[in-house]
Amino acid sequence: MNNMTNQHHPSIIALDGPAASGKTTVGQRLAEKFGYLFFDTGIMYRAVTWIALDHDMDIRNEALITQMAQSAQIDIRPPTENDGRACDVVIGGKDVTWDIRSGDVESKVSAVSAYPGVRKALSEQQRRIGMRGKVVMVGRDIGTVVLPEADLKIYLDASAEERARRRYDEIIERGGQADYDDLLKKMIERDRIDSTRAVAPLRPADDAVIVNTDALSEDEVYARVLEMCG
Ligand code: DC
Repeated sequence: MNNMTNQHHPSIIALDGPAASGKTTVGQRLAEKFGYLFFDTGIMYRAVTWIALDHDMDIRNEALITQMAQSAQIDIRPPTENDGRACDVVIGGKDVTWDIRSGDVESKVSAVSAYPGVRKALSEQQRRIGMRGKVVMVGRDIGTVVLPEADLKIYLDASAEERARRRYDEIIERGGQADYDDLLKKMIERDRIDSTRAVAPLRPADDAVIVNTDALSEDEVYARVLEMCG
């Protein structure tokens, strides 16, 4: 362990795990408690995917998407609306905070994030920010690739069924419409692509603490993670 703060909390906290495993909720609470930066790296992969779709780019065109990812201007700012968002995501002056959560982006983001050049461009930016410390960084490969020197690595896991149920509840809560079976199918497909890609596949780092959240409430997960922070 390195980079410990005066309060003896780990300074660089890596929080990885599959989609809807509860990383964002726990990560945000933790960052708020310690006064750390909360950085959700999935936003960057979603933003690149949104730009590709907005520009009618062929998602299979790896060279084109990679080139775009290298120059993409993704602005992440403090929230200006009280609608459940953790931050504003702005691209070319447009607020795309919810657009990057659309079903269209969701179904393409795994393919985009499997491109090595896209990963390199985005993870270099993530690393530069993470190495400043006092950060909770959330993603798939933070403990393994982006910040292997993190002081604390947590891997949140849950069954696909439980994660699909949570996603379903989230969408309904926001006033949207959802089909559980469809969400489950897509969740399993996203897991498959994320964990079998050649570069930085989803997996726990060897020194990560694995927490299965299936039978735990949000508060219980948070309490467990807080305990690990000393
Ligand atoms: O956490 P999320 O659902 O917002 O992530 C969206 C996609 O981005 C996910 O399917 C895989 C990819 N991703 C990644 O490959 N590496 C990260 N560090 C974060 C996200």
